[in-house]
Amino acid sequence: MSDSRREFMQIASSAGALAATSMLSHQAIAQQRPSKIVAISSGNGVPAVTKAVELIRTGADAIDAVIAGVNIVEDDPNDTSVGYGGLPNEDGVVELDAAVMHGPTHRAGSVASLRNIKNPSKVAKLVMDRSDHVLLVGNGALRFAKAHGFAEENLLTQRAREEWLRWKERLSTKDDWLPAHSPDDADVGVFAPYHRHTGTIHCSAIDSKGGLSCVTTTSGLAFKIPGRVGDSPIIGAGLYCDNEIGSAGSTGRGEANLLNCSSMFIVEQMGMGKTPEQACLAACERIVKHTKMRRLKKPDGKPDFNVSFYAIRKDGEFGSASIFSGPKFAIHDGNQAMLLDGKHLYKT
Ligand code: GLY
Repeated sequence: MSDSRREFMQIASSAGALAATSMLSHQAIAQQRPSKIVAISSGNGVPAVTKAVELIRTGADAIDAVIAGVNIVEDDPNDTSVGYGGLPNEDGVVELDAAVMHGPTHRAGSVASLRNIKNPSKVAKLVMDRSDHVLLVGNGALRFAKAHGFAEENLLTQRAREEWLRWKERLSTKDDWLPAHSPDDADVGVFAPYHRHTGTIHCSAIDSKGGLSCVTTTSGLAFKIPGRVGDSPIIGAGLYCDNEIGSAGSTGRGEANLLNCSSMFIVEQMGMGKTPEQACLAACERIVKHTKMRRLKKPDGKPDFNVSFYAIRKDGEFGSASIFSGPKFAIHDGNQAMLLDGKHLYKT
């Protein structure tokens, strides 16, 4: 055998060993800790985790369970961050984003800027099941939904319209249009993203077969520029699961999360040994480190926004963390649904 061929064989065999080690560590997580039924969600998700676990107990796949869970919140006119009753874009039109991911088959589906359909998470599931695509946007997503029998309806409630109107009347300093500016400019428009309404619901669950799945659904940033897409429908950012490791998702300022692909990061961090809570905190730290623009920072240099993460590991261990204190998370540990305080990097 030539020297170069021998060298190649050695490299190939070490690469194979490395790959095997990494696969083994994932399998070890799966095998050493038996799965149990668990569902986690954002603070608005107590009804979602309750429904998800109820369905899982009857034998449902986790993906159907988490979607049925968040449908309750999508249908709720009083949650102004998700589905029907969500706050509209700057033109007064409700635009919804949602995505689902199914761990056992490692498939996903998502929709963005979808108008007039109140359950975007159901449409996202159809994109996964009934198309060869992963993400459909805008009019294409609407036409796809209608082809599958979804009825168009007005999603703008009286309450959301009145809130939009109040915002529009004070528009001059509170929109998303920015003049040209440098990274060091602090006074660019009046950004105040921390005080802008963001909401969203994420839900991840483990079913009785150990299958992991997740969903994230939102009306996005209130009064956004039409066509703005946040992190929620982006696989790897707003949600991600790996059936051998765990599942994660996010709420909060989508732009920050889009720039950091945090949900995939969290799952990979769990795969390398971090607990769900440690992995969520690591994602928060990464966002802080990567926030360079002066206009996005408070005078003390910390971000002027919040992002929250939720994660479950294959064995049922769970955790949640935010950059700033305050957000709670909903958990059903198989026995009961609870609303708990997540960890944080900084006190609000
Ligand atoms: N995290 C939801 C959004 O920014 O649209």
